[in-house]
Formats: sequence, C-alpha cells, structure tokens
Amino acid sequence: MKATHILGIESSCDDTSAAVVRDRILLSNVIAGQEVHRQYGGVVPELASRAHQQHIVPVVDRALKEAGIGRRDLDAVAFTRGPGLLGSLLVGTSFAKGFSAALGIPMIEVNHLQAHILAHFILKEGIAERAPAFPFICLLVSGGHTQLVLVKDHLQMEIMGQTIDDAAGEAFDKCAKLLGLPYPGGPHLDRLASGGDPHRFSFSRPRIRGLDYSFSGLKTSFLYFLRDRTKEDPSFIDDNRADLAASLQKTIIDILLNKLRKASHQTGIREIALAGGVSANSGLRETMRAQAEKERWNVHIPDLTYTTDNAAMIAINGYYRYREGRFAPDDIAPLARMYF
Ligand code: KG4
Ligand code: ZN
Repeated sequence: MKATHILGIESSCDDTSAAVVRDRILLSNVIAGQEVHRQYGGVVPELASRAHQQHIVPVVDRALKEAGIGRRDLDAVAFTRGPGLLGSLLVGTSFAKGFSAALGIPMIEVNHLQAHILAHFILKEGIAERAPAFPFICLLVSGGHTQLVLVKDHLQMEIMGQTIDDAAGEAFDKCAKLLGLPYPGGPHLDRLASGGDPHRFSFSRPRIRGLDYSFSGLKTSFLYFLRDRTKEDPSFIDDNRADLAASLQKTIIDILLNKLRKASHQTGIREIALAGGVSANSGLRETMRAQAEKERWNVHIPDLTYTTDNAAMIAINGYYRYREGRFAPDDIAPLARMYF
C-alpha cells in the first residue's frame, strides 16, 4: 500500500506547531513558542491569535522542508479543532481549510486531548515500537485538563474521571506564581523541587468521590499557608522556596496517583500511560516508574518532546482518522470546548 503523508497543525493555545508523518513515522515536528505572554504572567488570547497568524506559514514551510517533501506529496491536512482558545484555533482551522482547498486534499479534525494520548503511537525511524496495548488507562494532565481516560482503541476513548475545577497544570502554575516564579511556573517549580525536601510541609488533599479530581482547594490552602507564615516571617518564602516547591509537587503527584491506582484496581487494567504537558514533570515521571514496580504496571511515559503541545500528535491522530476515511466537512468550525 502507498505510504500516506499527513501534515498536522496545532494552534490551540500558545504554541504554533506543524509536523509531517509518513504513516506512523514522524518526519518533522516544528514548534514556535510565544514569548509575548511571559510579561503578563499568563496566556493573553488576543496576542496568542496574532502570534499564530505570524508564525503559521513559516512553521508549516519549515516542517515540509525538514520532512523532505513538497506540498503536492501531502495526502491530507489534520488540524486541532478543540478544545482551546477560540481565536487561536481559528488560525489553524482557517489555514487547514485554505491548504486543503488549494491542494485538493481532505481536512481532518483532531481533538487536542485525544492527540495528547495518541502521541504514544508516534514512531521514529530506527526506534523500536513501544506503544501501549489496548485497553489502557491514560492519566492525561495538562494546563487545561486532568482526566483519567480508558483507551479502548486509537479512536475509542472514554473519560473515567476528571477534575471538577482546576487542572493539575493550573495548580502547578498558580502555586508557582505564589512562590514568585515566572509563567508558566510548572517547569520552574519542577526544577526547584529537585533541590527541596518533599516531606517538610504538608497541604490539604481533596476528598472527592469516585475517580474525579479537584485542585482548587490545594491552591487555596497553599495561598493561606504562605500568607500566614509570611505574616510571622516576611522572608519565609525566600528561605524555604525549594522545600515548598518539593512539598507542593509531592502533594499534586500523590493526588494524581491515588485516583490512577483506584482506576487500575477497579478495572484490573495494568497497562498505564501518561500524557499532557504535566507529564514532563520529573517527580511525576519518577513516581510513575516506582509505582509500576509496586503495582506491576506496564507504564508508558512519553518522550519529553511529546509532553507539551506539538503537532506530531495531531499528525499521528490524523493518520488514524485518515485510515478510516473520517474527513471534516468544508463548513467545519473550531470548538473552545470539545468532548471525546
Ligand atoms: O499540554 P500542555 O502543553 O498545554 C495544554 O494543553 O494545557 O500543558 C501545559 C502545562 C502548563 O500548566 C505547564 O506548567 C505544565 O504543563 N508543565 C509542567 C512541566 N512542564 C510543563 N508542570 C510541571 N512540571 C513540568 N516539568
Ligand atoms: Zn495540550
């Protein structure tokens, strides 16, 4: 059978990315971040769409060049339809429409969350297959989402539990901000935590039934804790930053792992995967490996390149949809909220 070349476009938040796959093999994955948000301490949607508009053409050109193919070699263009920032999604969606119309190739809509999970199925030339076997449970942790997903097949997924308020990434970012770290704080907090004592402080854990999560209480208790301690000792944060980071990180990881263990026990599934931006966290990666031994899990931890937003995961998702002929209609519009 002839190989299929898919171009993937990701523009749901503040990274403009384009990637090319030949069947499941990744040929290129170009990501342009947006520094402009740093000074505001968070993503400014209006600025994000403008930056996508500036980046998208050069990013796609580079992805094709690095893949060593021309536009005419493409069989389809896959794009993130949602969930995400509407203005940002519109840039990728409109670009995909123009591209598909000009080249006479189909468009494929991709759910950003499913894409994070399918990143495990990306192959690289010369690197052995190590994708999870179905069914598996995926802990999907990003800046906007925290979910336990039962993955039955490439395109068949069910949410088993999810956050009822903040996402884990949001908890990392908001608490990091309270410690005076720059945005996005997750990676900074991670680095700081590696030099701190995770048992030094303890913070309240949510009591939520079933497999759902909650992180807003933790953020509030962290805020009050810092406020009270700083009243007694104004240099409390400066003197204890690493221990605070390590203790907070441990609490978030404990909360995440608790429900993951529960989901595994309930279903008897021991094939476990991690996905999303927060899966770059070194403490979480380490804890998952340790749990794997203890619980006899077969754990799949994504390569760092595929943890945060990227178009490689959109392109691979596009590949699976292409195989089933699931193409998007011409009048498709992006969705800020999008479910499986
Ligand atoms: O998946 P992603 O790139 O974007 C969304 O779809 O949300 O995730 C971004 C989130 C941010 O909250 C960021 O702080 C967090 O992932 N993150 C981390 C680390 N690297 C990224 N959180 C903790 N530790 C990290 N090393
Ligand atoms: Zn994401």
